[in-house]
Amino acid sequence: GKVGVLCGGRSAEREVSLMSGNGVCEALRSKQVDAHLFDTGLHSIAELIDQKFDRVFIALHGRYGEDGTLQGLLELLGVPYTGSGPMASSIAIDKIMTKKVWLQAGLMTPGFAEIVSEDQLEKAVSKLGLPMMLKAPNEGSTLGVVKVTKPSELSAAYREASQYDKVVLAEQFVKGKEITVAIIGSGEQAKTLPPIQIVAPEGNYDYQNKYFTDVTQYFCPAPIADNVSEHIGALALRAYHALGCEGWARADFMLDEQDRPWLIEINTAPGMTGHSLVPMAAKAVGMSYPELCVEILETARC
Ligand code: DAL
Ligand code: MG
Repeated sequence: GKVGVLCGGRSAEREVSLMSGNGVCEALRSKQVDAHLFDTGLHSIAELIDQKFDRVFIALHGRYGEDGTLQGLLELLGVPYTGSGPMASSIAIDKIMTKKVWLQAGLMTPGFAEIVSEDQLEKAVSKLGLPMMLKAPNEGSTLGVVKVTKPSELSAAYREASQYDKVVLAEQFVKGKEITVAIIGSGEQAKTLPPIQIVAPEGNYDYQNKYFTDVTQYFCPAPIADNVSEHIGALALRAYHALGCEGWARADFMLDEQDRPWLIEINTAPGMTGHSLVPMAAKAVGMSYPELCVEILETARC
């Protein structure tokens, strides 16, 4: 059938999504899939409906793509799509809601506070200590994420994060290794790919160092003890199921200096660019990028 690769969109991650979508569309075509690129930022919902796609691959990141809104529309239309449903998508896009669900499920995520005005920063610092992370809870690709190391940086960091969201997440900083785990499949079929360790210059795995520079180093499988790696994989699955995720996703962790993994977030429509992590993890188990795209497409449900 006719497959739509939905990308672009209107979120701050539009540029990233265009890279993901182009990569996925080309790869699916190389596997004889009748794939069509569809930029939801340039076309109306009516035009999307007119396309009469039999299935869609969601290569959109952030708001109006990864956040459950589009998923709800596709449910109404009865078009099978890749990734999580409306509820899991809308929880996972929100780093604060995600943490609340994980805590309820007994999963370890760094301590946090919700900040709605600058005068609450001081209280957050006394609760969480410094360094501390300030994050726009509904963004991706490190947009609106700032590490605060000294009190003098608080104000500017808050202004940066609060550009994107009314509520800002203040999160305890975990010193250690940055680790990510890709998950493919739904329910009992869900499986993890080998963890990746990300080593960015000065720990700064930001927008530039994610997509546009070559200074970030990636190790896959991550050079960590087998039992730690297994533990992280099992935790990734628990975190995925706790939110009700389906299809595929990528769980991000910090592994502290005692080798304890802390859950940071889950991305329900992870990047599929040439620099992205899920394709890297797939490669480590001998799965090519086009094979990965087909495997994800196969998980599309409604
Ligand atoms: N939000 C970006 C696309 C990612 O998680 O890969
Ligand atoms: Mg993210």
